[in-house]
Amino acid sequence: MPKPPERPGVGATTAGMPFLADDPDLPRPCDRELAHDDAAVELARLDENFVRGCKKCALHAQRNKTVFGIGHPRPTIVFVGEGPGADEDAQGIPFVGRAGQLLTRMIAAMTLTREQVYICNIVKCRPPGNRTPTEDESSTCSPYLYRQLAILRPRVIVALGRPATQTLLATKAPIGRLRGQFHDFPPPALAHYGLPAAALMPTFHPAYLLRSPGEKAKAWEDLQQVMRYLDIPIPSR
Ligand code: URA
Repeated sequence: MPKPPERPGVGATTAGMPFLADDPDLPRPCDRELAHDDAAVELARLDENFVRGCKKCALHAQRNKTVFGIGHPRPTIVFVGEGPGADEDAQGIPFVGRAGQLLTRMIAAMTLTREQVYICNIVKCRPPGNRTPTEDESSTCSPYLYRQLAILRPRVIVALGRPATQTLLATKAPIGRLRGQFHDFPPPALAHYGLPAAALMPTFHPAYLLRSPGEKAKAWEDLQQVMRYLDIPIPSR
């Protein structure tokens, strides 16, 4: 079988997985540690120069605002969701609707604030009717996310729900098999991006937890694992 190219462009396949292809129009991902202010500048550059005007997939046609991400530019933890909903599309800020309010409470339960972590999504534009982004939309948008992660350099990535987990781990394995344990990020299939290493914890998406509150205890177990990994004391309840 022919070897896949080391740094495939859009449309190229990586071991039969086209969603892993990089976007040759973007600068190379950041390859060094940046201090707080420099990281903030690089994030703003990526947002203003590339994401805000992006028309690479059909999602741009119906958006009000792109939703780049928000929080600490050099956080210990990054939370990655699926894509903006109606409230996020109106405000340009991730996780501000009902699911966002639950995420804020989950972060508070970890004794942290939204300002101490970073929050973003796989896709930066709202999928109509809040449907799950297609594989094509995720593959077109995820090179932005990988550049964000290369600037942010978190120790832990919390992947919220199936689409975020499967995209970040480059796998189609079901979330039920992946959640609740740490995985190495980046997976070998994303090695061509040269991203810094992090421990990735998949957990349930807060929108799912709103529909299935009986699963909240499992999500809390996952977050406690992250706290233990980072030596964050777990408050007694
Ligand atoms: N759901 C997501 O996955 N992301 C948001 O920003 C809001 C809801």
